[in-house]
Amino acid sequence: MKRIAILTSGGDAPGMNACIRAAVRGAIYYEAEVYGINQGYQGLIENDMFRMYSHSVSNILQHGGTILKSARSEEFKTKEGRKKAYENLKEREITGMVAIGGDGTFTGAHIFYEEFGIPIVGVPGTIDNDIYGTDKTIGFDTAVNTTLDAIDKIRDTADSHGRIFFIEVMGRDSGYIAIQSAIGGGAESVILPEKESTPDDIVNHLRDGMRRDKSFSIVVVAERDVPGYAVELAKKVSEVITNKDIRVTILGHIQRGGSPTSTDRTLASRLGLGAVEGLIDGKTNQMVGIINDKIVYTSLHDAITKTKPLNPDLIRAMKILSM
Ligand code: F6P
Repeated sequence: MKRIAILTSGGDAPGMNACIRAAVRGAIYYEAEVYGINQGYQGLIENDMFRMYSHSVSNILQHGGTILKSARSEEFKTKEGRKKAYENLKEREITGMVAIGGDGTFTGAHIFYEEFGIPIVGVPGTIDNDIYGTDKTIGFDTAVNTTLDAIDKIRDTADSHGRIFFIEVMGRDSGYIAIQSAIGGGAESVILPEKESTPDDIVNHLRDGMRRDKSFSIVVVAERDVPGYAVELAKKVSEVITNKDIRVTILGHIQRGGSPTSTDRTLASRLGLGAVEGLIDGKTNQMVGIINDKIVYTSLHDAITKTKPLNPDLIRAMKILSM
């Protein structure tokens, strides 16, 4: 009897529920027993698992968050913690695991596999879209649509008052959300973690715009280690540009919630099914992704060690269109 366990770990992302649904139903289709693990790796250590059926995942596809809950487990980073996790899987005779999450989730999965040999297939679920081995990660499209909705609204008030707005978005190590929000939101400037920009650069760019009769401006800023980088930048810019009101909006965790877009629902459904089909096929220590609309498997080692650089064409387009 095949027994597959599923968990979500790290920062949640809209579409995780659609992915859980697909993995559960896919596993049942292939006549496997399914177990849900609550609270990611922490729940695995605490043996917080329950049997799942087709009806367990009814009516969840359209909801953000994750019915399995998520956590960033410090204990799983220890050998003792992982040993407890393994004992719990062994006791239930689990033969494979689907781990939905990002970088941290896959690092944990990779070490766990190397130590105990439990077959694992990872699914890229993070709004950051910063995972090698897939064109898009679950939740990214929804997160960008959320930022665009916010930017459109801020543009209205920025226009009415002729103000400069700094809008901080998520993605502390990766500028995917920032660059797509900036292009889609018609921003004047974007500050990316991948590219050094000084307050002087921002001032010069904003002044160029004002010389071309721009009455208001939007600067999209990718957050840094702690939220609030946009406040710091706005303060420095306001010391130089004194003839304009400057305001800051930090979008924060609003980007992590909400109903997944159609793109995320389809992506999550295909990846959840792909993860289970990978396990059934005997794949292990791999991540399922979609590249050029085809399901592909990449080793977890590559997924965590290789980077997916920002598409330079997006940066080029932003430069030209923000004039
Ligand atoms: O990795 C997803 C993400 O939302 C990042 O964009 C953000 O920097 C971080 O998680 C926030 O983490 P936390 O949920 O711990 O505040």
